[in-house]
Amino acid sequence: MATTLQINGKPVDVKAAADTPLLWVLRDELLMTGSKYGCGVGQCGACTVLADGQPIRSCSTPIGVLGTAKITTIEGLGGAHPVQQAWVKHDVPQCGYCQSGQIMSAVALLEQKPHPSDEEIASAMDGNICRCGAYQRIREAIKDAAGLPQVAANPPPIEVPAPKPAAGV
Ligand code: FES
Ligand code: FES
Repeated sequence: MATTLQINGKPVDVKAAADTPLLWVLRDELLMTGSKYGCGVGQCGACTVLADGQPIRSCSTPIGVLGTAKITTIEGLGGAHPVQQAWVKHDVPQCGYCQSGQIMSAVALLEQKPHPSDEEIASAMDGNICRCGAYQRIREAIKDAAGLPQVAANPPPIEVPAPKPAAGV
C-alpha cells in the first residue's frame, strides 16, 4: 500500500512498506541522495533530516510512524539557506560525507534558538560525528549564521623571538 509523505513542502506517494526506514525511501526510491548512510543505527547523524522542524535519524525512522509530519531534507533547503551560505563562507566540509546531517542539525538548532550559547551549540551538534574533525569550522559557521561573534578563523601568527646565543659562544 502506498504511503503519502510530506517531503520538502509536497505530498509524495511512496511504494515502500511502512517499516522501511525513511533514509532508504529518500535515497533508493526518491533518488534524493543528499542524506547519507553512515552507521545505520542512529549513532552518527549522517542521515539527519527534520520532521516538523526536529532533527531525526532517517536511517532508523520507519516511514510508517511519520504520518503527516513535514519532512525537510538537505534538498529542501534550496542551496541558499543562511546556514548553507555560512558553510560555504567558512569552507566547512572536508570529505563532505557528514555535512548534510550537520547542516540539518544546525538548521533545527537555529530555528529553535536563534542565538545559541556555545554549550547549546555543543549539545545540539553532539550526535553528529565528523570523521574529518571539522568541528571548529562547523561551530564557526553556526555562529556566523546566528550573527554571533566569531573566533578568528586564521589568527595572526605568534611572533616567537629568535633565541639569544649562549654566553661565550
Ligand atoms: S546513518 Fe543514521 S545515524 Fe548514522
Ligand atoms: S567532513 Fe568528512 S566526515 Fe565530516
